[in-house]
Amino acid sequence: MKSSSIGRKLVMSISGMFLIMFLTLHLAINFTAIISREAYERASHFMSENIFIKMMVPVLALGFIVHIAMGVILTIQNRKARPTDYTVKGKHPKVSWASKNMFALGIIILGLLIIHLNHFWAEIQLQEFLGNAKANPYDLVVATFSNWWNVSVYVIWILAIGFHVSHGFWSMFQSMGLNNDKWLPRLRTIAIIYSYVITTGYIIIPIYFFLGFGQA
Ligand code: HEM
Repeated sequence: MKSSSIGRKLVMSISGMFLIMFLTLHLAINFTAIISREAYERASHFMSENIFIKMMVPVLALGFIVHIAMGVILTIQNRKARPTDYTVKGKHPKVSWASKNMFALGIIILGLLIIHLNHFWAEIQLQEFLGNAKANPYDLVVATFSNWWNVSVYVIWILAIGFHVSHGFWSMFQSMGLNNDKWLPRLRTIAIIYSYVITTGYIIIPIYFFLGFGQA
C-alpha cells in the first residue's frame, strides 16, 4: 500500500476516534432521558454551558467533515485499484459484511444525521443562535419519538451506525499499526461488544418514548 494511502487511513482513524468519543458521550447524555425529565434537563444544561463541550463542537464538526472527505477519497482510490480492497486482507481474510459496505453505510448515516440535526439541533442550538426561544430538549424527545415513522427511521439509522462502527472501531487499530495476531482478534471482539452496547443504548431511547414511558 502506498504511504499516501496509509496516511489517509490514519487520518480516517483519528477522525473516527473523535466520532466514537462523541457517540459515547452523546449516548450517556441522552440516556438520562430514560431516568427522568429532570435528569435529562440537567444533563442538557451541563452540555450547553460547559466550556470544554462548547470547544469540542467545532472540533467534532471538523472531525465529521475530514472523516467523510477521506472516506470518499479512499473509496474512489480503492475502486480504481481493485482487486486491492480498503479492508486489510492476507493474514486475516475474514471480511465482514460491514467492512464491504462501509461507504454505503456512511452515506445512510450522513443522510439520516441531517434529519436528526433538523429534529434537534435546529430547534435548540440554531434557535438560540438566532436569538429565538429554543425548544425544551425533553419535550422535543417526547414529540419526535411519538411518531412511528420517526422511530423507524431512527432504528434504521442506529443499526447503520452500529454496523459502521463495528468494523470502523476495529479497523482503526489496524490503521494505527496495531497488527498483531494475538491482539487483533481481541480488538475485534471489543469492537463488536462496543457496537452492540452503543446500538442497544441508542435504540432503547426512541422505543422507550414511543411506548409512552416518557413523562408529560
Ligand atoms: C436516539 C437517540 C438520540 C437523541 C435523543 C439525540 C438527541 C440530540 C439532541 C437533543 C441534540 C441537540 C443538543 C443541543 O443542541 O443542545 C442532538 C444533537 C446532535 N446529535 Fe443527537 N441524539 C440521538 C442520537 C444521535 C446519534 C446516534 C448520533 C450519531 C451521529 C447523533 C449525532 C448528533 C450530532 C452530531 C448533534 C449536533 C452536535 C450537538 O449539538 O451536540 N445523535 N442530539
